Amino acid sequence: MRVLVIHGPNLNLLGERETDIYGRVTLSEIDELLKARAITLGLELETFQSNHEGDIVERIHAARDSVDALIINPAAFTHYSISIRDALAALDAPVIEVHLTNIHAREAWRSHSVVAGIAAGQISGFGPQSYVLALEAATGLDGAAGRSGGD
Ligand code: DQA
Repeated sequence: MRVLVIHGPNLNLLGERETDIYGRVTLSEIDELLKARAITLGLELETFQSNHEGDIVERIHAARDSVDALIINPAAFTHYSISIRDALAALDAPVIEVHLTNIHAREAWRSHSVVAGIAAGQISGFGPQSYVLALEAATGLDGAAGRSGGD
């Protein structure tokens, strides 16, 4: 099973950025954690980070027909990027939305995700462990549509 993990804008600054909210674990440490878990789960894993909406859209397009599940922390794009939402909707593979923080327990505007409606599910609030939980959830989606089609 091939899994792509996409990290959205500003996540390259994890470990330095608003550490009271996002903690001190860096993005490369998260990627290492994921690589180790992928090996034990027998998954092929690729990770990608970009601060640019169009680059993320293009990476999602490139994933069409080449991944079995896509895990994404769209970061700020969660709340307004219809182009990322539409690119994800065009993917046959199931999508799992991830957040380090509990977006439902922060500012009201963060609780709205334009991606959630096309995702198989959302994991939010467990810090770096959110990604590991998503990887574990992805194994259960292999071969399943994993999408409600709702909004
Ligand atoms: C985030 C939550 C978003 O609201 C925020 O813009 C981020 C990170 C999270 O992982 O908790 O950049 O996606």
